[in-house]
Amino acid sequence: MRKIVITGFMATGKTAVGLLLAKMLDLPFLDTDDLIEERAGKSVADIFSADGEAYFRHLEREVIASLAEAEDCVIATGGGAIVDPENLRALRNKGVLICLTATPHVILERVGTMDHRPLLHHPKPFQRIEELLASRLPFYSQADFSIDTSMARVEEVADRILTLLGLEVKG
Ligand code: S3P
Repeated sequence: MRKIVITGFMATGKTAVGLLLAKMLDLPFLDTDDLIEERAGKSVADIFSADGEAYFRHLEREVIASLAEAEDCVIATGGGAIVDPENLRALRNKGVLICLTATPHVILERVGTMDHRPLLHHPKPFQRIEELLASRLPFYSQADFSIDTSMARVEEVADRILTLLGLEVKG
């Protein structure tokens, strides 16, 4: 089976949906932010504050390149990963790309304190979300499927992905 790649903006449910989907399909789950943290030996927030976004993007490219040939797995990416064309190519390779979306209001609500999202450390987080979303729309729209998670439970989103891909729960 191809790899299933879950992408989309911060707080759209990528990790929760990816984890559940992997469980339903009995496939390994990989989260690019987790792999970056393992590589760096520190959290994403610490990488941003100590080394800067450029270094984070460098690690992100390395991690995603290492997943280019992966198959039979579910991958959740960080929200900015597919802005890089190399990343998009590597994720697309042997993969189907699913973009999760949510309205800016729902994103803001889910993000809460924003402690773990350095890109949203901003005096006007709602405006920041709207701007970032607008600038990333052309990239997110390249996904094979897009699912609005604003009003949906994690289980519903995972079921929808199974239906879209014509897959059945395993075991
Ligand atoms: C980012 C999203 C984050 C993380 C990093 C950058 C982004 O992941 O990769 O803070 O550029 O949108 P989540 O989308 O899982 O929050």
